[in-house]
Amino acid sequence: MISQFNPRKFLLTILCLIFIIGHISAQIKEQGIIPQPFKVQKNNTVFSFVATTYISVDKGINPSNLIFFNGYFKSLSGRNLPVGKYAKSSIIQLSIDSVGVPQPEGYILSVTSKQISIVGHDQAGVFYGLQSLIQLLHKANGKITVQGGVIEDHPRFAYRGMHLDVSRHFFKVDAIEKWIDLLALYKINTFHWHLTDDQGWRIEIKKYPLLQSISAWRDETIIGHKKDSPHRFDGKRYGGYYTQAEVKAIVKYATERHINIIPEIEMPGHALAALAAYPQLGCTGGPYKTATFWGIFDDVYCAGNEETFTFLQNVLDEVLPLFPSKYIHIGGDECPKTKWKTCPKCQQRMRDEHLKDEHELQSYFIGRMEKYLNSKGRQIIGWDEILEGGLAPGATVMSWTGEEGGIVAAKQHHDAIMTPEKYVYLDYYQSLYPSEPLAGGGYTPLSKIYNYEPTTTALNADEAKYIKGVQANAWSEYMASPAQAEHQLFPRMLALAEIAWTDKGNKDYAGFLKRLRYEQPLLKQLNINAANTFDEITDGVSQSPDHREQLALSSTLPGAHIYYTTDGTAPTLKSKKYNQPIIITQSGLVKAAVFSEAKLYGRVYEKDFHLHKAVGKTIILTNPPQGAYNSGDVSELVNGVFGNKLYNDGQWYGFNGIDFEAVVDLGSAQQVSQLGVNILKYHWQKMWEPQVLTFETSADGKTYTEVYRQTSFPANGINQVRATVKPVRARYIRVKATNKGIIPPGEYIAGAKAWLLVDEIIVE
Ligand code: ACM
Ligand code: ZN
Repeated sequence: MISQFNPRKFLLTILCLIFIIGHISAQIKEQGIIPQPFKVQKNNTVFSFVATTYISVDKGINPSNLIFFNGYFKSLSGRNLPVGKYAKSSIIQLSIDSVGVPQPEGYILSVTSKQISIVGHDQAGVFYGLQSLIQLLHKANGKITVQGGVIEDHPRFAYRGMHLDVSRHFFKVDAIEKWIDLLALYKINTFHWHLTDDQGWRIEIKKYPLLQSISAWRDETIIGHKKDSPHRFDGKRYGGYYTQAEVKAIVKYATERHINIIPEIEMPGHALAALAAYPQLGCTGGPYKTATFWGIFDDVYCAGNEETFTFLQNVLDEVLPLFPSKYIHIGGDECPKTKWKTCPKCQQRMRDEHLKDEHELQSYFIGRMEKYLNSKGRQIIGWDEILEGGLAPGATVMSWTGEEGGIVAAKQHHDAIMTPEKYVYLDYYQSLYPSEPLAGGGYTPLSKIYNYEPTTTALNADEAKYIKGVQANAWSEYMASPAQAEHQLFPRMLALAEIAWTDKGNKDYAGFLKRLRYEQPLLKQLNINAANTFDEITDGVSQSPDHREQLALSSTLPGAHIYYTTDGTAPTLKSKKYNQPIIITQSGLVKAAVFSEAKLYGRVYEKDFHLHKAVGKTIILTNPPQGAYNSGDVSELVNGVFGNKLYNDGQWYGFNGIDFEAVVDLGSAQQVSQLGVNILKYHWQKMWEPQVLTFETSADGKTYTEVYRQTSFPANGINQVRATVKPVRARYIRVKATNKGIIPPGEYIAGAKAWLLVDEIIVE
């Protein structure tokens, strides 16, 4: 049957088509690249892949540059792109021109309706042009298209690193290969492979077979977080290692993707797994066992025993042929000196070498291994503790405890890589929502990583040249599977990629988020278990001008509105709409949720307020808080918000080896009948309860009367001290808590200074 021409239907169809085409091209235009390229000019042409599209490759271009692109294209389209020469077809042209594209690893990608051209400065440039092209491929209605335009691009830093710990959890070869593909896609060019640690030795060393049969295995693994007490274990033997053949294959796989693998063979600390097999290499001779929980262990390689150096040199003799990397990482972090202090061999070494303390012994250890590696034509990289007792002459410093190590190294004209834990540790939590999967601790949301700037103002232009790049670290204590690891690492790894590659002037968090949202289909296509919670609510608690607590909420989700309740019920579109910071007038739970186009986005946000007489009042501390437990605003000790048990919400104030003393001024004399404070106790995190806690009251701020004293804090976790006192009129409240001091023998990290963690001083 031939249907009648229907002008109305025709018009509707045309309108629909215009809408669909308009929609497609709008989407195409919105598509972007992560990391953001140096320069992007779009135009209105569109390249369409057709059955005869082929890739033309100039002489000299390695076919391996195409491996990942071709694989991805096939997964998207179901067909291969032929490589070769076919007349009268649409074409992707790859070439190298080191003059036309002057920057190493740079490329120019030009897209017209007729062809796509990628000109690289070098092989890596061609490869990176293809990675950008992958992100521009747009599939709709069975057709694959690319928006026309010209992209000129090159990296900001020569060193763009991602680390992965395979000791705490072991990732099999296929997971490592997938990982390498993803690094390459986002133009990360260095894979720092943390192969040995206390909980498992993961690389085959033929001369030492017990490394395979003993050190690669642990009897069982801790369940839950290390801070829990007592520790619980799963009772399951766990382990594995990469054979040398597998390592070779992985290195080849990475090299084809322009990734250098830097192996880390950790010394002198984090050596328990090796000592379990070869106890004569430890100061006490053992016996030792591969660690079954996370942390720092006192048993390290003996620095006085010649056999230690013979062992490590023999190990390196097998490692070096597997890794062409100029750099070899020798660890150097977190090496307790406890055993060295009482070891006759270590002490003899110190006398023989005229070393004044154990820090100089560590420096001797690293310096000696550096000489060995230099004699084999390699350079060392170490964590910033290799600065202790003096830096080995050609060492590169990986600055993790903060930026200070990198700054000191750069000022001494040593190369440095910035990887400060506060900003780029991906084992930290990415969200403060309580339902977040278990992580190491800390809090590095996507925005914090993104806004990290690796060249600090502490360096002049000449010194800044020694900062070779930036790296994010993936410690795997709480990443037991590739899926869990992907949830922790994505999308934060993409933020790292952008800090490492993108010119400082082109960085823009809002633009990054926009591109990240368009990246979601690609992440899905690549089967990555990425977290997608980055648009959820974040908050800020501050004081209003009239000294009341106020809660600011925000979400980066475009077009979203926040609704909230203060009566404990779940927010709906009928709840109060958030327009400006909420003034907190009563204790209780604030719940809030993001809605976009009338749909709930993500999880429901909650914050509990506990209003009391000290909230918003003046507080003065005798000793300043320290390190990560100092958010800079001591008024948080009297803001009605209690610090959480993950101690990552900025509410806890920490004192390392020193006492806490605070005076709260209520502004006028008031009736006081209850006093309180929260104390955090996690001995497995070096957080100790005070020896003595006292509350005192005063009318004049000069003469104080003690009204309460407590010396026992039984709970592992938050100890809520709540003291009912004889009612008294007082204007000033003084709280004193004496630090435990040095962690006692037999406890975790004995001999170190204890942390005292305090939050919210409560007055009723
Ligand atoms: C480190 O995070 N211990 C280098
Ligand atoms: Zn020793």
